[in-house]
Amino acid sequence: MIRVLFNKKGGVGKSSLTVNLAAISASQGYRTLILDLDTQCNSTAYLDALDAPAQSTIADLFEQTITFHLYRRPAIEYCQATQMENLFIIPGSERLVELESELHSRHKIYKLREALESLSEEFDHIYIDTAPALNFYSLSALIAADRCLIPIDCDDFARQGLYSLQQKIAEIKEDHNPKLEIEGIIANQFMANANLPKQIIDELIEEGYPVLSEYIGQSVKMRESHQAKKPLITLAPKHKLTLSMVAIFNLLDHDKGA
Ligand SMILES: Nc1ncnc2c1ncn2[C@@H]1O[C@H](COP(=O)(O)OP(=O)(O)OP(=O)(O)O)[C@@H](O)[C@H]1O
Ligand SMILES: [Mg+2]
Repeated sequence: MIRVLFNKKGGVGKSSLTVNLAAISASQGYRTLILDLDTQCNSTAYLDALDAPAQSTIADLFEQTITFHLYRRPAIEYCQATQMENLFIIPGSERLVELESELHSRHKIYKLREALESLSEEFDHIYIDTAPALNFYSLSALIAADRCLIPIDCDDFARQGLYSLQQKIAEIKEDHNPKLEIEGIIANQFMANANLPKQIIDELIEEGYPVLSEYIGQSVKMRESHQAKKPLITLAPKHKLTLSMVAIFNLLDHDKGA
């Protein structure tokens, strides 16, 4: 099962959720892969994988599609082991920026899907972290994925962005990827004791948005986990934030393809 974490809005928790859901998946014995498609490389840094061996980043994998090689390295060779058993990553790279226009002009939008088709045989779960923009890479990811998870930070701008996001995903589904589904909207940094976040989420549910029933609170543990470069499930397995992440993981569909 291939999942992409996407929202054009920045700072909503895409990277935090990608790494923590993938780490929970790995801790439960699933062979799990993270793809970092964001030039900020936050997931890569979180998993302490910035020092990947030369030519082993996601940019190298894409670059291979626009340069001539007698030998094409299979996608599995880009997957790096992490500190956690069962958890692998194809690290992000700032070089994605310089490659983007050429990949776009040479119509390489389906290349990620091809790579992931072969990787799906090696991994039970694949999680893709994206930049806060609908660029070539996030579009490639939405074309390749089975499911999209949309984290929101429960403010009014998040709600305003959701309608156009939903339309865009419906369009990608129709034009490129019939299997794509929005699996859930994840309420992150939810403040249970304030009225506005609850009101926003209730309205989204009323409007028919698939908001997952577990809301993730705000906790400094998240930043501590980034700083320690350890996913919550290893840093603080019993913490409320971790249990909330596990509850989200348990709400996801693990039957098909897994
Ligand atoms: N539940 C949470 N509690 C506290 N802080 C959080 C929580 N979730 C995310 N954060 C913080 O919010 C910030 C943004 O999170 P994150 O980087 O995961 O978002 P993002 O959507 O990936 O951002 P970008 O769009 O820039 O890629 C980070 O500093 C992170 O520590
Ligand atoms: Mg991010």
